[in-house]
Amino acid sequence: MEKTFLMVKPDGVQRGLIGEIVSRFEKKGFKLVAAKLMTVSRELAEAHYAEHREKPFFEELVGFITSGPVFAMIWEGENVISVARQMMGKTNPADAAPGTIRGDYGVSVGMNIIHGSDSPESAEREIGLWFQEQDQIAYDKTIDRWIY
Ligand code: TYD
Ligand code: MG
Repeated sequence: MEKTFLMVKPDGVQRGLIGEIVSRFEKKGFKLVAAKLMTVSRELAEAHYAEHREKPFFEELVGFITSGPVFAMIWEGENVISVARQMMGKTNPADAAPGTIRGDYGVSVGMNIIHGSDSPESAEREIGLWFQEQDQIAYDKTIDRWIY
């Protein structure tokens, strides 16, 4: 089953949105495989956002992600990578549709509440970057019978 890396960013944690965000993915039918509240080192932030290293917003982005605790998660389910991206909404909350997390709660592109892997390759890379193998919990949810 497909897995993705999702993270409530420091603004989402500060605004008390962890529960709301976890609840959306739970209710959708996805399965939480790992989660931790943590502070982010500059090294981890730079590795996570390596693809944006040359962008003008890189320094601000790294500064933001390391500015306070984040809630890092691994979620599992059919097409979870692309479906989670749809549930998050577009990168700029001004363009994100109502009903999406960024559309419902975000205002500015700098503080857009949530991160989600954008492809199977980035999901694998980010899961490996943020979690250890033993952090992932394999378990059955009986409700899965009503989803699949
Ligand atoms: P990106 O990977 O393009 O977006 P997404 O988070 O939807 O995958 O960019 C990473 C983060 O960088 C984005 O969530 C917010 C920040 N960012 C800016 O601050 N300014 C910008 O112009 C862009 C494109 C992104
Ligand atoms: Mg991205």
